[in-house]
Amino acid sequence: MKNKFKYIESYYDVSEIINFYNKINDAWTDNTFKIDKINYGVSGCWDVPLHLEIESNPVHGLIKKLREDFGNFYLNTGSLRYQAYPFLPHSDIQQDYAVLDFLKLKNAKKYMTFLIPLTWKEHVHPGTAFFSSPPELNEDLYRDRLDVLPHFSKEYENEMIRYSVSGIVDWKNSGDLVMWEDFVFHSTTDHHSYNFSKDPAQFCKSFLSIRVYLV
Ligand SMILES: [Fe+2]
Repeated sequence: MKNKFKYIESYYDVSEIINFYNKINDAWTDNTFKIDKINYGVSGCWDVPLHLEIESNPVHGLIKKLREDFGNFYLNTGSLRYQAYPFLPHSDIQQDYAVLDFLKLKNAKKYMTFLIPLTWKEHVHPGTAFFSSPPELNEDLYRDRLDVLPHFSKEYENEMIRYSVSGIVDWKNSGDLVMWEDFVFHSTTDHHSYNFSKDPAQFCKSFLSIRVYLV
Protein backbone atom coordinates (compact mmCIF):
# COMPACT_ATOMS: atom_id res chain seq x y z
CA MET A 1 0.00 0.00 0.00
CA LYS A 2 1.41 3.37 -0.97
CA ASN A 3 1.48 6.42 1.28
CA LYS A 4 -2.09 6.19 2.52
CA PHE A 5 -1.04 7.17 6.03
CA LYS A 6 1.37 9.57 7.64
CA TYR A 7 2.84 10.05 11.11
CA ILE A 8 4.34 13.37 12.22
CA GLU A 9 5.93 13.50 15.64
CA SER A 10 5.26 16.55 17.86
CA TYR A 11 3.00 18.16 15.27
CA TYR A 12 1.16 20.58 17.58
CA ASP A 13 1.37 21.83 21.17
CA VAL A 14 -1.85 20.42 22.66
CA SER A 15 -1.49 21.62 26.27
CA GLU A 16 -4.09 24.39 25.80
CA ILE A 17 -6.42 21.92 24.09
CA ILE A 18 -6.19 19.47 27.00
CA ASN A 19 -6.92 22.33 29.46
CA PHE A 20 -9.85 23.53 27.36
CA TYR A 21 -11.65 20.16 27.41
CA ASN A 22 -10.86 19.62 31.10
CA LYS A 23 -12.67 22.90 31.80
CA ILE A 24 -15.62 22.08 29.52
CA ASN A 25 -16.28 18.94 31.58
CA ASP A 26 -18.92 17.68 29.11
CA ALA A 27 -21.01 14.51 29.40
CA TRP A 28 -19.46 11.50 27.67
CA THR A 29 -21.52 9.67 25.05
CA ASP A 30 -21.05 5.92 25.28
CA ASN A 31 -19.97 4.63 21.86
CA THR A 32 -18.63 1.32 23.11
CA PHE A 33 -20.23 -1.72 21.49
CA LYS A 34 -20.31 -5.48 21.84
CA ILE A 35 -18.39 -7.31 19.12
CA ASP A 36 -17.87 -11.08 19.08
CA LYS A 37 -14.90 -10.79 16.74
CA ILE A 38 -12.47 -9.35 19.31
CA ASN A 39 -11.14 -11.41 22.22
CA TYR A 40 -12.50 -8.85 24.72
CA GLY A 41 -16.04 -8.94 23.31
CA VAL A 42 -16.13 -5.09 23.38
CA SER A 43 -14.62 -2.23 21.34
CA GLY A 44 -15.08 1.51 21.28
CA CYS A 45 -14.87 4.89 22.93
CA TRP A 46 -16.76 7.52 24.82
CA ASP A 47 -17.09 10.76 22.84
CA VAL A 48 -17.30 14.44 23.64
CA PRO A 49 -18.24 17.07 20.99
CA LEU A 50 -15.40 19.30 19.73
CA HIS A 51 -17.33 22.52 20.50
CA LEU A 52 -16.02 24.44 17.50
CA GLU A 53 -18.91 26.89 18.04
CA ILE A 54 -16.75 28.37 20.81
CA GLU A 55 -14.49 30.93 19.15
CA SER A 56 -11.76 30.73 21.77
CA ASN A 57 -11.53 26.93 21.35
CA PRO A 58 -7.80 26.24 20.76
CA VAL A 59 -8.70 23.46 18.29
CA HIS A 60 -9.32 26.28 15.77
CA GLY A 61 -5.55 26.91 15.77
CA LEU A 62 -4.87 23.22 15.14
CA ILE A 63 -7.37 23.14 12.26
CA LYS A 64 -5.75 26.24 10.74
CA LYS A 65 -2.37 24.50 10.75
CA LEU A 66 -3.85 21.30 9.31
CA ARG A 67 -5.40 23.34 6.48
CA GLU A 68 -2.06 25.01 5.75
CA ASP A 69 -0.35 21.61 5.59
CA PHE A 70 -2.98 19.38 3.96
CA GLY A 71 -5.15 21.69 1.86
CA ASN A 72 -8.22 23.81 2.41
CA PHE A 73 -10.52 21.03 3.56
CA TYR A 74 -14.09 20.98 4.84
CA LEU A 75 -14.94 19.38 8.16
CA ASN A 76 -17.03 16.24 8.10
CA THR A 77 -17.11 15.07 11.73
CA GLY A 78 -14.93 15.15 14.79
CA SER A 79 -14.89 14.45 18.48
CA LEU A 80 -12.70 14.05 21.51
CA ARG A 81 -12.52 10.31 22.08
CA TYR A 82 -11.79 8.47 25.32
CA GLN A 83 -11.00 4.91 24.38
CA ALA A 84 -12.28 1.97 26.43
CA TYR A 85 -11.26 -1.06 24.33
CA PRO A 86 -9.17 -1.54 21.15
CA PHE A 87 -10.60 -1.62 17.64
CA LEU A 88 -9.92 -4.51 15.25
CA PRO A 89 -9.03 -3.68 11.61
CA HIS A 90 -11.83 -1.69 10.02
CA SER A 91 -12.31 1.03 7.43
CA ASP A 92 -14.47 3.98 8.45
CA ILE A 93 -17.00 3.43 5.68
CA GLN A 94 -19.67 2.39 8.26
CA GLN A 95 -22.51 -0.05 7.65
CA ASP A 96 -24.49 1.92 5.05
CA TYR A 97 -23.99 4.34 2.16
CA ALA A 98 -24.45 7.53 4.20
CA VAL A 99 -20.78 8.65 4.26
CA LEU A 100 -20.10 7.66 0.64
CA ASP A 101 -23.32 9.35 -0.55
CA PHE A 102 -22.40 12.49 1.36
CA LEU A 103 -18.89 12.60 -0.15
CA LYS A 104 -20.25 11.96 -3.66
CA LEU A 105 -22.83 14.71 -3.21
CA LYS A 106 -20.06 17.14 -2.22
CA ASN A 107 -17.91 16.01 -5.15
CA ALA A 108 -15.15 15.18 -2.68
CA LYS A 109 -11.80 14.14 -4.12
CA LYS A 110 -10.25 12.91 -0.93
CA TYR A 111 -11.33 11.97 2.59
CA MET A 112 -8.84 12.35 5.43
CA THR A 113 -8.82 11.43 9.09
CA PHE A 114 -6.60 13.26 11.56
CA LEU A 115 -5.93 11.59 14.88
CA ILE A 116 -4.14 13.69 17.48
CA PRO A 117 -3.11 11.82 20.65
CA LEU A 118 -3.72 13.78 23.87
CA THR A 119 -3.23 11.54 26.92
CA TRP A 120 -2.82 7.87 27.81
CA LYS A 121 -2.45 5.69 30.86
CA GLU A 122 0.66 3.86 31.91
CA HIS A 123 1.24 0.44 30.25
CA VAL A 124 -1.01 1.21 27.27
CA HIS A 125 1.73 1.54 24.61
CA PRO A 126 -0.68 3.54 22.42
CA GLY A 127 -0.58 3.28 18.66
CA THR A 128 -2.37 2.87 15.36
CA ALA A 129 -1.83 0.09 12.81
CA PHE A 130 -2.55 0.16 9.08
CA PHE A 131 -3.37 -2.77 6.81
CA SER A 132 -3.65 -3.88 3.24
CA SER A 133 -6.63 -6.06 2.43
CA PRO A 134 -6.27 -8.32 0.52
CA PRO A 135 -2.79 -8.87 1.96
CA GLU A 136 0.33 -7.82 0.08
CA LEU A 137 3.17 -10.31 -0.17
CA ASN A 138 5.88 -7.80 0.68
CA GLU A 139 4.27 -6.98 4.06
CA ASP A 140 4.12 -8.85 7.39
CA LEU A 141 0.98 -10.89 7.83
CA TYR A 142 -1.47 -10.04 10.60
CA ARG A 143 -0.69 -13.41 12.20
CA ASP A 144 2.97 -12.44 12.54
CA ARG A 145 2.37 -9.25 14.56
CA LEU A 146 0.03 -10.51 17.27
CA ASP A 147 2.52 -9.17 19.80
CA VAL A 148 1.24 -5.63 19.11
CA LEU A 149 -2.08 -6.14 17.29
CA PRO A 150 -5.52 -6.83 18.78
CA HIS A 151 -6.46 -10.50 18.94
CA PHE A 152 -9.49 -11.85 17.14
CA SER A 153 -11.65 -14.19 19.23
CA LYS A 154 -11.10 -17.91 18.58
CA GLU A 155 -14.26 -18.09 16.49
CA TYR A 156 -13.09 -15.37 14.07
CA GLU A 157 -9.35 -16.09 13.97
CA ASN A 158 -9.55 -17.06 10.30
CA GLU A 159 -10.32 -13.39 9.44
CA MET A 160 -6.68 -12.50 10.17
CA ILE A 161 -5.74 -13.93 6.79
CA ARG A 162 -7.40 -10.96 5.06
CA TYR A 163 -4.82 -8.45 6.27
CA SER A 164 -1.15 -7.66 5.93
CA VAL A 165 0.49 -4.95 8.02
CA SER A 166 1.46 -1.84 6.05
CA GLY A 167 2.60 0.12 9.07
CA ILE A 168 2.50 0.36 12.85
CA VAL A 169 2.66 3.82 14.36
CA ASP A 170 3.58 3.95 18.04
CA TRP A 171 2.41 7.24 19.50
CA LYS A 172 5.35 8.98 21.14
CA ASN A 173 4.04 12.34 22.41
CA SER A 174 0.82 14.22 23.04
CA GLY A 175 0.32 16.34 19.96
CA ASP A 176 1.75 13.87 17.43
CA LEU A 177 -0.29 13.57 14.24
CA VAL A 178 -1.54 10.33 12.69
CA MET A 179 -3.27 10.92 9.37
CA TRP A 180 -4.80 8.55 6.86
CA GLU A 181 -6.59 8.90 3.56
CA ASP A 182 -9.90 7.59 2.40
CA PHE A 183 -10.98 4.25 3.78
CA VAL A 184 -7.72 2.49 4.44
CA PHE A 185 -8.01 -0.33 7.01
CA HIS A 186 -6.67 0.53 10.46
CA SER A 187 -6.83 -0.67 14.06
CA THR A 188 -5.69 0.21 17.53
CA THR A 189 -2.43 -1.40 18.60
CA ASP A 190 -2.68 -3.70 21.61
CA HIS A 191 0.43 -4.75 23.49
CA HIS A 192 -1.72 -6.95 25.76
CA SER A 193 -0.38 -5.24 28.85
CA TYR A 194 -3.33 -3.05 29.82
CA ASN A 195 -6.39 -4.06 31.77
CA PHE A 196 -9.11 -2.51 29.54
CA SER A 197 -12.41 -1.72 31.20
CA LYS A 198 -15.85 -0.31 30.48
CA ASP A 199 -15.52 1.89 33.55
CA PRO A 200 -15.12 5.43 32.08
CA ALA A 201 -12.54 6.26 34.74
CA GLN A 202 -10.34 3.48 33.30
CA PHE A 203 -10.24 4.83 29.73
CA CYS A 204 -6.89 3.86 28.20
CA LYS A 205 -6.22 6.95 26.09
CA SER A 206 -7.74 10.15 24.77
CA PHE A 207 -7.32 11.67 21.32
CA LEU A 208 -8.91 14.09 18.90
CA SER A 209 -10.45 12.52 15.81
CA ILE A 210 -11.18 14.94 12.97
CA ARG A 211 -12.54 13.79 9.59
CA VAL A 212 -12.41 16.11 6.62
CA TYR A 213 -12.75 16.11 2.86
CA LEU A 214 -11.16 17.98 -0.01
CA VAL A 215 -13.12 19.00 -3.10
FE1 LIG B 1 -11.55 4.00 12.63
